[in-house]
Amino acid sequence: MGVEALKKIQEEALLAGLGIMDARAVDEWRAEWLGRKGKLGMALGLISELTASERPEFGKVGNLVKETLEGRLVAMMSSVESVEGQLDWSFPGVEPKVGHLHLTSQTIREVQNIFSELGFRRARFPEVDWDYYAFESLNMPKDHPARDDWETFFIANDKGRIKTGAKGKQVLTPHTSNAQVREMERGELPIRLINISKTYRRQSGPRHLPVFHQFEGLLIDEGVSIANLKGVVDYFVKRFFGEGVQTRLRPHHFKFTEPSFELDISCVICLGTGTVSGGKCRICKGGWLELGGAGMVHPNVLKAGGVNPKKYSGLAFGWGVERTMIMRSGVNITDIRTLYKNDLGFLEQF
Ligand code: PHE
Repeated sequence: MGVEALKKIQEEALLAGLGIMDARAVDEWRAEWLGRKGKLGMALGLISELTASERPEFGKVGNLVKETLEGRLVAMMSSVESVEGQLDWSFPGVEPKVGHLHLTSQTIREVQNIFSELGFRRARFPEVDWDYYAFESLNMPKDHPARDDWETFFIANDKGRIKTGAKGKQVLTPHTSNAQVREMERGELPIRLINISKTYRRQSGPRHLPVFHQFEGLLIDEGVSIANLKGVVDYFVKRFFGEGVQTRLRPHHFKFTEPSFELDISCVICLGTGTVSGGKCRICKGGWLELGGAGMVHPNVLKAGGVNPKKYSGLAFGWGVERTMIMRSGVNITDIRTLYKNDLGFLEQF
């Protein structure tokens, strides 16, 4: 037993006192270290076993340790007192602020879930892609005027010239249809794919964003028909907009589908009647709202993807995420750019 043992007691006592928050624990600490039968008292009692020359040093250190621990005790008592004096355990807590997913992300998840019920698997492809996948393989040869409908961003190299490679110019995907031939090239049939991704076009205004989202469905198998197309779009529309909503395929033209359609749904505001309380519905045209393009995959596109059009046929559709979700929300968003202004007052409504 010596001076070292006393120093060790001090160290351990201080360590044990850390984090003590209530009066009961302070009492226990006092009893364990400073009480009559406490660890310090017991150690000091052993002074009688030391030689006369060891005793003065032992006594001196012993007193210092006692003072230190008593000082600590006073500090602990006063801090416990002030904490306990202030705390009112019945006072209601502060609710932590929890955010939520953006309306667009919520919609993307929902769309993905609905199509997964039909066995469509979500895939991802580059958003910086080659002209070949965005246009040429989709039956739109170079300089074809149909390309003008997709106001495309091209990627420039460091000299300001458009970047080109073996598969043509580099573009920001103007639609999700680049997934079609890319998926066929993977070489697995049948295909049941849903591609949800950002799309880019040189446009901006109350009804157009330069960056928006599309979801593209592609089903390729033997004997796929327009009846299947109608079945798939019907399933989605009824799950997303409601059982009572009707669909209609209106003839249209795309280079990569034949035949091609625009998909319309019956207006969710006037319920397809075209009139609201005697007046014309302001949301739709004669009871119908346009959702987006669809059609049967053109044989040239199947060929480009290495799929035999004599054996296989396919259906495809591609619609805007923002457009689809706004059509359902019933919120009259007059400027689509509101979605991405980070205005919490707006976003927290969804
Ligand atoms: N890619 C077309 C668009 O952006 C939509 C579409 C996809 C049409 C697939 C037919 C088939 O408008």
